[in-house]
Amino acid sequence: MEIIITPDYEQMSKTSAQIIASEIKRKHDLVLGLATGDTPVGTYDELVKIHKEEGLDFSKVTTFNLDEYIGLAPLHKNSYNFFMWENLFKHVNANSGNVYVPQGNTDDPEEFSQWYEEQIKKTGGIDLQVLGIGGDGHIAFNEPGSSFASRTRIKALEKQTIEDNARFFKKVEDVPRFAITMGIGTILEAKKILLIVSGKNKAGVCAQFIEGPVSSQITASALQLHNYVTVVLDADAASKLTRTEYYNWVRDNKHMVQKKVGR
Ligand code: PGA
Repeated sequence: MEIIITPDYEQMSKTSAQIIASEIKRKHDLVLGLATGDTPVGTYDELVKIHKEEGLDFSKVTTFNLDEYIGLAPLHKNSYNFFMWENLFKHVNANSGNVYVPQGNTDDPEEFSQWYEEQIKKTGGIDLQVLGIGGDGHIAFNEPGSSFASRTRIKALEKQTIEDNARFFKKVEDVPRFAITMGIGTILEAKKILLIVSGKNKAGVCAQFIEGPVSSQITASALQLHNYVTVVLDADAASKLTRTEYYNWVRDNKHMVQKKVGR
């Protein structure tokens, strides 16, 4: 794992947007996995800026979102589909035919999940998967205890996730109890992974998933099994890491590291 510690949310957003933009420039038909939540809002703002100022081209990019609440129609204002259009797609030249978000109001979530997996396979797989991390250590909606072999499926949400996400709804009872989510197995098949995280409230889970043991109780720790993961954190989220001196040395001597390991 490459650990990039940035001073604050703004820098975290800029750094992560630069990483995504350089992948799109490298491969115009990039298959890009996307995340929702508060964390990536700044990253998406930066991508919009790069699109407007430098012409970053999304027209051939295919996107797959990680998850969606079951029961919410795509145009519901709390749906992740709506979030993605509001925060990114409508501000860039995204091609709606290449945009995939799990359909929350499907009649058959299980069948839909299989279809979603097939669409990912048909594109040749995800080149770069963007992730956030939940307060309980989840990636996508893979709550503690999720199998590392799991594929896209229905998942019941943890009490903590429901409470964390209640801020987006009128009342906690309105938060859906189930979601369709890519599995850990699906995520681990992405060629590259970029996890972004900010805030003191995530410092504990960051220390656990980066420096703790691999455990299904902190599903983000599964990323230790992947060979190309970049984590961009702000200083608050990094405040409980113990090996920061090493991470910062690698970050500041990147030119030397790149010569040796090619990344
Ligand atoms: P957040 O959500 O960015 O709103 O904190 C992250 C997540 O639950 O994956």
